Amino acid sequence: MIQMSRYITLPDGTSLPSIGQGTWYMGENSQMKSKEVKALQLGIDLGMNVIDTAEMYAEGGAELVVGEALKGRREDVFLVSKVYPHHAGLDSIERACENSLKRLGTDHLDLYLLHWRGSVPLAETIEGMEKLQKDGKIARWGVSNFDTADMKELWRIENGQNCMTNQVLYHLGSRGIDYDLVPWQEEHNMPIMAYSPLAQGGSLRKQLLTDPIIKEIAEKNNAEPLQIALAWTIRAGNCLAIPKAVQEEHVRANAEAADIDLSDEDLHQLDEVFPRPTRKMPLDII
Ligand SMILES: NC(=O)c1ccc[n+]([C@@H]2O[C@H](COP(=O)([O-])OP(=O)(O)OC[C@H]3O[C@@H](n4cnc5c(N)ncnc54)[C@H](OP(=O)(O)O)[C@@H]3O)[C@@H](O)[C@H]2O)c1
Repeated sequence: MIQMSRYITLPDGTSLPSIGQGTWYMGENSQMKSKEVKALQLGIDLGMNVIDTAEMYAEGGAELVVGEALKGRREDVFLVSKVYPHHAGLDSIERACENSLKRLGTDHLDLYLLHWRGSVPLAETIEGMEKLQKDGKIARWGVSNFDTADMKELWRIENGQNCMTNQVLYHLGSRGIDYDLVPWQEEHNMPIMAYSPLAQGGSLRKQLLTDPIIKEIAEKNNAEPLQIALAWTIRAGNCLAIPKAVQEEHVRANAEAADIDLSDEDLHQLDEVFPRPTRKMPLDII
């Protein structure tokens, strides 16, 4: 397995490569399964050994794909899954986790995230997460789609400060969190886990593929525009990006993006086209 050149550090000191792999939309079509498994395995070989999945994706189908990809290499991977908010109560979180573990063919998760906030009180979810951790089913836990106010609320609850990360949407064309969530998490030594870091292959923000400045920076760095977008998300060392890719050339391109060093001038030019927010923006969620 190749070692990636860039790393982030979780609050418990765990060091992880800055680019991992997403799995949304995997497991939807059985004819794609072997290609998806191969893509994830290639990604692991290239150093993207953080794999993000969720019980929601293809209603367990993505976890089955990941389980297949992990056979014989579980120890090489930092495995992340997510619980539905309606399964995040004390009466159901254990079962949800067990079901994920069964589909993934493993006895523990490295990180378990609350997928988004629902009606279950946060204190109850934290209690459930802490119990799973004590029982050895999960090594650590975190949250997803939490805005700054949610994080502050979490922080005030007993054991809430054991949260390891917050997985949120973050790409060059959607950087609202740079206003307050990123600084808040930096203050608390907690990295961001960036989802949809490629704006879903550019479809959420076509400008990422066509903007002349990005194209110019891409040419200068001998890269593709979306590799520049990916390199941008991990530029500060406080963010782990989890692009999803099934096409082999996409997997390779994403791993290579870790080696792109954007210069101060590149970053300045990107800031001009995609400005840092100057006021609070509501958290972007998909
Ligand atoms: N917590 C949450 O609520 C939440 C929400 C959304 C996503 N996520 C997680 O974040 C992961 C990533 O987000 P995402 O899947 O929404 O979007 P994404 O990673 O931004 O984009 C995925 C799309 O980009 C294409 N692609 C990948 N690498 C490429 C490259 N180098 N050049 C051109 N196109 C490329 C993929 O195509 P191919 O697959 O055909 O290669 C796919 O169509 C998800 O898979 C999931 O694990 C979490």
